[in-house]
Amino acid sequence: MRMLRIIFEFWSLNFFPLAIKFNIKTFDKLPSTNDYVREMTDNGAAEEGLVVRAKYQSKGKGQQNNFWYSDKEQNLLISLVLRPLHIPAEDVFLISQITALSLKDLLHDLLPEEKVRIKWPNDLYVRDKKIAGILIQNDLSQHVLTSIIGIGLNVNQRVFPSVLPNPTSLRILAGVSFCIEDILNTLLQKCNERYMQLLGGSYEMIREEYNACLYLLDLPALFLRKDGNSFKGVIRKVTDDGSLIIESEGEFYAFGFREVEFPH
Ligand code: BTN
Repeated sequence: MRMLRIIFEFWSLNFFPLAIKFNIKTFDKLPSTNDYVREMTDNGAAEEGLVVRAKYQSKGKGQQNNFWYSDKEQNLLISLVLRPLHIPAEDVFLISQITALSLKDLLHDLLPEEKVRIKWPNDLYVRDKKIAGILIQNDLSQHVLTSIIGIGLNVNQRVFPSVLPNPTSLRILAGVSFCIEDILNTLLQKCNERYMQLLGGSYEMIREEYNACLYLLDLPALFLRKDGNSFKGVIRKVTDDGSLIIESEGEFYAFGFREVEFPH
């Protein structure tokens, strides 16, 4: 099995690129980088590696139609285009996983003293607070045709709107300001490394690493079902299709995105 994997990785490195060719376009202001890139992909004008960065978004999009808040020039707001054409549609959650892991790798470098966790499906948490969010829009057929990967990373902002339950930033955690351009360049290196792992076929490694840094993994917590009922349980893992497995009273339950909520 191991030999097969080595042969496959060698073969795939000969057929797939060794590095994403990033093309960064920076705007002072956009409604939303994801919307901008979506329009470009619809017009066939978005190549793999396109990175659209906005210093400010007037209609930043978060998960579940939420607004993504970010003060002007304080945070990293980007959308990256990938075209992982050989990834079967049923494995599309791997795109979320490599994105979350890239951010985890970056945060691990920037905050070496901190434990960085991935709150399922793909929020980045430090000290029980959210430091980054990811919004991915995929175009699928049998394979993944295009992924628009929107990333919002709180960098230098110190005060957030009170509607946000538990935001944090690099500035709050480290006590110093950061250069957003440097952070972008390092993040893109991390994305490249993780994408090469994906192209090399290291699916299991990616899934294991993702599972290993899940927020609240193996810890008892209170969860809320979609029907409003709460229950005690323990997160055990995320399946290949992205479902969250929670153990409760000796039984294992699988939840899809938005079917369960847990402490922020
Ligand atoms: C979340 O709700 O956690 C996802 C937040 C994603 C925000 C980023 S900021 C850059 C990109 N453009 C958007 O409009 N949203 C994403």
